[in-house]
Amino acid sequence: MQTELLHHLPAAVAGGPATKTIPTAAAAAATPVTNFRKVVIPLSTTAPTPCYDQSPTSPDARSSPFPSRPPLGRCPERMVCAGQRRAKTLHMADQGTETTESGPGAAATETGGARAAAAARAYYDSSDVDAFYDSFWGGEDIHIGIYAHEHEQVATASRRTVERVAAKVSHLLGPDRTVLDLGSGYGGAARYLAERFGCRVTALNISEEQNRRHRTTNAERGLDGLIEVVTGSFDDIPFPAEHFDVVWSQDALCHSGDPARTLGEAARVLGPAGEFVFTDIMASDDTPTEAIRPLLTRLAAPALSTPGQYQKLLSQVGLTEVDFEELSRQLRIHYTRLTEEAQRFHAEPDGAVSPGYLAKVRENLPLWQRACRDGLLVWGIYHCRR
Ligand SMILES: C[S@@+](CC[C@H](N)C(=O)[O-])C[C@H]1O[C@@H](n2cnc3c(N)ncnc32)[C@H](O)[C@@H]1O
Repeated sequence: MQTELLHHLPAAVAGGPATKTIPTAAAAAATPVTNFRKVVIPLSTTAPTPCYDQSPTSPDARSSPFPSRPPLGRCPERMVCAGQRRAKTLHMADQGTETTESGPGAAATETGGARAAAAARAYYDSSDVDAFYDSFWGGEDIHIGIYAHEHEQVATASRRTVERVAAKVSHLLGPDRTVLDLGSGYGGAARYLAERFGCRVTALNISEEQNRRHRTTNAERGLDGLIEVVTGSFDDIPFPAEHFDVVWSQDALCHSGDPARTLGEAARVLGPAGEFVFTDIMASDDTPTEAIRPLLTRLAAPALSTPGQYQKLLSQVGLTEVDFEELSRQLRIHYTRLTEEAQRFHAEPDGAVSPGYLAKVRENLPLWQRACRDGLLVWGIYHCRR
């Protein structure tokens, strides 16, 4: 099982790959960071284990394109913290121990977080999933759409969601602003933000396959000077504290095996006047875990958080919920549209997606439709600040 998460230095996006010496863990640890702020996230306290994948051959192992910001990945305490957590995670994974609270969205242990990240990576990197998602949404957005009517194109509705989320933080978007997109998929939102507002976007994503496509599209569109694609997990964000004006995420946190830690990380990297905006698929507060387990198997997601849990966790990590726009009706329309499209997709002689995978999707999507109809699921947009 792959339990080791990837931590790379980010790509140099202006002017192509830089030929810069990659700092060793020891050199990085010696670099002073003045604005580091410790946040309370569950940690184990074994001996520090520096934890970079610093392979110079990695597409991520290049210099920062953001010279006005602290050098990326050079926060000594972060490195130690992440290493400690991972050491514990691997140790526990080796022993096969895992304790998870019951109930939908119960915070998983660190092992749960690492397992969920590895499962998400394996899922999104698989050729079937990659081909299916890419053709369904056209290589841009892969999240819940906001539909003007029940027959609208999935891609059109999905783009509307990006616009709606951006409108909530538009006062923080502009040429000198920085956005971190957690679980950035093929980069639809990153490109929208860079093109529309001129902001610099860091796209953190666990799927190397998606990141490869993301970088290619950015280069084709001339956006690689504004968007940096980084392979890594939102459970160990490889950036110093208070680094971004906006932290953004769309329908990715449902893959977290440890939402407390993921939200703690999002809060840590948010600047003092920064804002965190995210959409997520949740279970209703009273949904029994068993009722939605069959839905989650296809996505390799461990459990869904609930609005009540998010409210509690957000406040625990020091964030104030400015507003939660509940749009669960859109989730029902979305899954209805996906179910219809999956039927059509099957009829096409495409060949890129295996018949076995398509059959599973066609079986699984109606379960989501039914769960939406039965009020088991919630979807909406959270907008938070410090
Ligand atoms: C439903 S897709 C959404 C993608 C993108 N946000 C969008 O809206 O188009 C979920 C994304 O979360 C990413 N993801 C899942 N677990 C992750 C983790 N632990 N760290 C970073 N990204 C993760 C997946 O690779 C995938 O790109």
